[in-house]
Amino acid sequence: MQLDVDDIDQAVTTGAVPGAQHIDEILDAAYEHTSKHHGGEVADYIPALADADPDAFGLCVVDVEGGLHEVGDTRVLFSIQSISKAFVYALVSERVGHEKVLDVIGVNSTGLAFDSVVAIELNDGHPMNPMVNAGALATTALMPGNTADDQWEAIHSGLSRFAGRHLDIDDEVLASEVKSNSRNSAIAQLLHSYGRIEHDPLEVVDIYTRQCALAIDARDLAVMAATLANGGVNPVTGVEVVSAAVCRDTLAVLAASGLYEATGEWLFEIGLPGKSGVSGGIVTVAPGKVGIGSLSPRLDSTGNSVRGQIATAYLSRALGLNIFASESHFRSKVAGIGEDQAG
Ligand code: DON
Repeated sequence: MQLDVDDIDQAVTTGAVPGAQHIDEILDAAYEHTSKHHGGEVADYIPALADADPDAFGLCVVDVEGGLHEVGDTRVLFSIQSISKAFVYALVSERVGHEKVLDVIGVNSTGLAFDSVVAIELNDGHPMNPMVNAGALATTALMPGNTADDQWEAIHSGLSRFAGRHLDIDDEVLASEVKSNSRNSAIAQLLHSYGRIEHDPLEVVDIYTRQCALAIDARDLAVMAATLANGGVNPVTGVEVVSAAVCRDTLAVLAASGLYEATGEWLFEIGLPGKSGVSGGIVTVAPGKVGIGSLSPRLDSTGNSVRGQIATAYLSRALGLNIFASESHFRSKVAGIGEDQAG
């Protein structure tokens, strides 16, 4: 999609973002710039999602020192949906280790839709990617625990630690998804038939569906993203949620496949690892700098929030967050710039 940021100056920063005052001004400008976009449709394949306010729009940045910057509807609750996949992947990686998740789940893109069954068959029952439903179900199944309740407790408490507060389930969304969940049940049973899920596959679907129905807001998403930006320590609570090595692995997976089939375009334009969900949220991580959380339920044809993409593109450019951007040391020196860029 067209991100409408050609006129935004592309800043380059290394090591740190501009000071707090600067972030607030840029955030307000990103919000105003993005608010004029009204394209996209609210998801309705899970019936309760169709009730979302299509005009809700919240944008939040949390820096690695815990500084919070927010504008718009940052306290509107919505279900986390697929964004949970990123954080459950981190929690499971922390518990079972790098080699095990690489072996059981994999890290490559399927090139197919997030709920694809064909992708499993084409890869001999290997789920391939933790950011699509098959890989996410296999990831959830890997969480250690004697019972499904123990596994759920580990996931629920871990996601709450990422957010820095106890997260509650949106019961209406959960009930709606349980009723329309036959495709995920089929995927889990197929993975079970290939020995990729060892537990009862329908219990795994139940845990996965609950993790997707947790209610969060744009501010929570920014804190969760900032925890991944900060080596796994929640910068607001100071709690270590996962290791720095797990953050690095998780961000690599997000960079490769966080925005469905539009991940390449996202990385090309925005240059940051991110993850979107069907309820209209996007989390974006600028390692060592900030986490960004956005909510706007109108999605484009790839299933990504229209305003979320535009606002994040704006912030990436204006705050100099693109991880691929560099500026010649020699050129900067000659031009006499660079000394006062870092906050
Ligand atoms: O399983 C589902 O279809 C939803 N709970 C989540 C889908 C979603 O957000 C998109 N996934 N990548």
